Amino acid sequence: MSHTDQSIDVPTLLEISASGALVGSTRRYEKFSGEMAGVYLDEAAWKAEVAGKGADNLVYSVNEHKYQNGPGALIVGTSCVLPGSYGDEYAVTRGHLHAVSDRAELYYCLSGRGVMLLDTVDGGTSAVELAPGQAVNVPGHWIHRSVNVGDEPFVTLFCYSADAGQDYTIIAEAGGMKNLVVHDGPDGWTTVPNPRHTGYRSEPSA
Ligand SMILES: [Fe+2]
Repeated sequence: MSHTDQSIDVPTLLEISASGALVGSTRRYEKFSGEMAGVYLDEAAWKAEVAGKGADNLVYSVNEHKYQNGPGALIVGTSCVLPGSYGDEYAVTRGHLHAVSDRAELYYCLSGRGVMLLDTVDGGTSAVELAPGQAVNVPGHWIHRSVNVGDEPFVTLFCYSADAGQDYTIIAEAGGMKNLVVHDGPDGWTTVPNPRHTGYRSEPSA
């Protein structure tokens, strides 16, 4: 057996805080409001947010620890979605289907309050609310996106196969996910049909 990076292919202590800080992370990426064009139904509200706070205003961030690339390896990380609203919609991550679409993922809520919004390409849909101490086990073949329905950062710990990859275009090509998470109802949120959604293309056969 050979590995390209021996330095991190060893058991590693990770220190994970409720704020999403991850000591031992090997990668961090950040998403800014200017990069979220086309994500929200209310385009004018998104433009107003970008104009008011700037295109470089942070909207979510991810820290991850990846120790190797091969089958069987895991990526462990934290996701932090800042609170926000765009018209009626709550702040979301871009969302994706795993490029290797049968790969599952666990999301465990560390702090805040959010919803995991999920679709399958053939019409299945689900929305699972998460509070600290609660988790959702996202099966393979489910498109998924985190939504912050609270007024504090929504922070999750995630874990999935290192060879899963992400297909982000499947949502954009469908005009967005099947449902929107909007302000309403006794829990402060509900889902409504996304009028722009045109249906998903089939999953890649590979
Ligand atoms: Fe994922």
